[in-house]
Amino acid sequence: MDIQEELQASVEYLQARGVGDVDVAIVLGTGLGGLVKEIEAEHEWNYSQIPHIPVATVEFHFGKLIYGVLAGKRVIAWQGRFHYYEGYTMEQVVKPVRISKMLGAKALLISNAAGSLNPNMAKGSLMCLEDHINLFPDSPLRGPNLDALGTRFPDMCQPYSSGLSASLFDVARELDIPLYTGVYAGVPGPQLETRAEYRYLRTIGADAVGMSTVPEVIAAVHMGLPCAAVSVITDECNPENLAPFDLDEVVEVAKAAEPKLTRLFKEWMGRLVA
Ligand code: HPA
Repeated sequence: MDIQEELQASVEYLQARGVGDVDVAIVLGTGLGGLVKEIEAEHEWNYSQIPHIPVATVEFHFGKLIYGVLAGKRVIAWQGRFHYYEGYTMEQVVKPVRISKMLGAKALLISNAAGSLNPNMAKGSLMCLEDHINLFPDSPLRGPNLDALGTRFPDMCQPYSSGLSASLFDVARELDIPLYTGVYAGVPGPQLETRAEYRYLRTIGADAVGMSTVPEVIAAVHMGLPCAAVSVITDECNPENLAPFDLDEVVEVAKAAEPKLTRLFKEWMGRLVA
């Protein structure tokens, strides 16, 4: 079975169980689990139930797909993403994005946890991605082009929808939630970066660094699916004063930011014209 047939089988499984007319797809990273509770769920699946969906492995991510209504919009929410560092192929990493588009999603919203390279952006901050730098050694589009999904050489001059981001900033202003804008460097991981690497990442123009999102956004651009992404800044990567990475603290900071990110996403969802 080729990738296209696998995608089709996953889509047909979900359509046969009532999924249709999706307005917005959400990929929930660290710090956005709380949004799930706001969805009036019609159906829920463990990833293991859906044909050709890999099972999420990182223990603090759940592998669950939720279909329902949020702020008046028909949404599918992927709770638990596939990281490249877990050993998934890039094709597996972007399956949720491709399936979402094939189910009719008109917008994709992504959240992630990231380290700050910008001295102005302290941990606990939220950053809307205005652009990214792909430092993964692979692309989800490598190999024969899936012509049914998109073109061979997708343009990347504006991977993040300015319309979606603008409405996010409107909401943030109204809710009085500080929101930065910046460039996200996507790295393969799983090891954290050396001080020399943080210096390098800052030099090449990144404000934040993380191990996800970039492959998903490339796949979304390929399919013409407008997307926007928000990072929860969970740690500060200052090469001149670097503390050892503390996963417990990262999870704690992400959890503490969850209520404001949840409020932001919910209100944003209500504004989207889908
Ligand atoms: N690097 C540094 N800090 C981080 C990352 C990363 O990839 N993700 C979350 N915090």
